[in-house]
Amino acid sequence: MTKPRAAVLISGRGSNMMSLIEAASAPDYPVEIAVVISNRPEAHGLARAQACNIPTRTLDHKAHADRAAFDAALHAVLEEEQADFVCLAGFMRLLTAGFVEKWQGRMINIHPALLPSYKGLHTHERALADGVKIHGATVHFVTPEMDVGPIIMQAAVPVLEGDTPDSLGARVLAQEHVIYPAALRLVAEGRARITEGRVAIDEFEIAPPALVVPPAG
Ligand code: GRF
Repeated sequence: MTKPRAAVLISGRGSNMMSLIEAASAPDYPVEIAVVISNRPEAHGLARAQACNIPTRTLDHKAHADRAAFDAALHAVLEEEQADFVCLAGFMRLLTAGFVEKWQGRMINIHPALLPSYKGLHTHERALADGVKIHGATVHFVTPEMDVGPIIMQAAVPVLEGDTPDSLGARVLAQEHVIYPAALRLVAEGRARITEGRVAIDEFEIAPPALVVPPAG
């Protein structure tokens, strides 16, 4: 049986992309990572995907007149690659509403914070500055407004005494790599259903929609 095809969109190092590629290498994973697309030719993730024999495409945003032109080109590449799902994995570009609407319910993103807290950039710095005791990561469906789409899965980690943005970020990132493949599985299996802007999960076996990681030690 052929599996549905996911395109992973990156702009940088691609560690979340790698977690998806690794998960998808298991025979029982329900999606194939069909292509990795970067808007930056220098993205380190491209070489990492190639090393795993995953086809890559580069679509340099600087070569397009505006956002609409870039998004139209991106949509054409996704159609060419026969993508069924799109996973944003550190893809550092805002997408137009028209593009997002075409992929609604089939495009997901990973964000390094417990949404709806800390939308946008520099989430670890902001969490530390606020003195929160719990931080984490969220996988959500993408909607036209940034970082507000229906939440599929979250992981919470403790903020520890003496944390820096780097140490906290590393603790969060380790959990991103757990929940992103688990969330893509739920979506691909049709078990993450959007009702009234919220996600209902049909029975789960792989990982709970909320993962709470106890403090180390
Ligand atoms: C991750 O922290 C992800 O949550 C955010 O961008 C970062 C990308 O890192 N959207 P990587 O390229 O997956 O290593």
